[in-house]
Amino acid sequence: MNHPELTPPAGSLRAMDNHFYRFLGGGARLRLLEVFIELQIPELLGHRGPMPAQQICALLGLNLHRGWKFLHLLALTGLLEEKHGVYSGDETLFGLSTDAKYYFGPAGNEGFFYRDLVAFWKKVADLSLIDVLRGSALPDGIDWPYATPDSVAHFEYHWMRLTAAGSIDTLLMSNAMVNAQKVLDIGGGDGTVGCALCSAYPAIQVTVFNLPVSAELARTHIAERHMNDRVHVHEGDFFKDEFPTGFDHVLFNRTLADWQPTVCKMLFDKVRRSMAPGAKLVINEAMLEGNTDFTLAWEFRYIFYDSYGRALFKPLSVYQQLLEDAGFRITHVTPMRNEAFYSVIEAEVMA
Ligand SMILES: C[S@@+](CC[C@H](N)C(=O)[O-])C[C@H]1O[C@@H](n2cnc3c(N)ncnc32)[C@H](O)[C@@H]1O
Repeated sequence: MNHPELTPPAGSLRAMDNHFYRFLGGGARLRLLEVFIELQIPELLGHRGPMPAQQICALLGLNLHRGWKFLHLLALTGLLEEKHGVYSGDETLFGLSTDAKYYFGPAGNEGFFYRDLVAFWKKVADLSLIDVLRGSALPDGIDWPYATPDSVAHFEYHWMRLTAAGSIDTLLMSNAMVNAQKVLDIGGGDGTVGCALCSAYPAIQVTVFNLPVSAELARTHIAERHMNDRVHVHEGDFFKDEFPTGFDHVLFNRTLADWQPTVCKMLFDKVRRSMAPGAKLVINEAMLEGNTDFTLAWEFRYIFYDSYGRALFKPLSVYQQLLEDAGFRITHVTPMRNEAFYSVIEAEVMA
């Protein structure tokens, strides 16, 4: 079915209609995914394997006619695999797709991160967007950066540490840190990235710069990994404090997409003031290019978080401008790989 003629040329009427239907299709996909999770279909089909529509509907208490349509649409989204459905009969078999097994595990009982993404989505999606846009109060707990020990632990462990692998691989594959000896990792989470750099490069020492609660978590995590002699923690707030000096590489790993361009420029200015001559600035970040759905999903959520700034996932051209304005020259850009969302920018202070 992958004929080139199925993709209409840009600007054609069919391309325009396709664009419009992507909005409605997106709404349908999301509702289907929410209910797929709520009804615990991953667990059911992961545990019992593919089953006829009739049996699934009976087990889940669904009206057979409506339930069949629902399962068929889940197959269209790619979350289920449908077999023997030519006549749309009650005996049509539905099982978890390869993608669903990737998101929720082969037994359907994993996928904390993907489930949490949907849970966070629902937390804001149930609010009236118009009321919010007109200034209504936002619920408690919608604030960034997280400040209470529980919310920081949830964020640093369940989100940052568990999703770090793709960014670490990207960073290592870029070779941006191969000659590093002393690295300052700004907003360096719980030290996961610092420890990974030390494992990959025997000569490296890393200092994680982070807010007090995250810094405390980092100390514990680094000690658990017996890396205290190579990964150090410097407590600080980059809005208030200058950066420590004496580093040959300064890293922002997935930290700049939390902040709007004015803040990034302020951080680049601070980095330039602290950097030793000949040192390198390395940015490993999700950029806008190639990540439109990712950006839409996250920045929609950020409408409901006043503490997040504007246009956080920035195109490369914005980083170029900000770096140039802060006195840096980009020396290399490693584009996104197929495995993760991140690109790596290397920069040095302009002569
Ligand atoms: C998205 S996380 C990235 C963590 C880590 N670099 C990684 O890739 O796993 C952003 C980090 O920036 C830190 N951060 C946020 N605001 C900060 C501030 N004002 N000063 C220092 N660090 C801050 C957070 O605590 C968090 O660890």
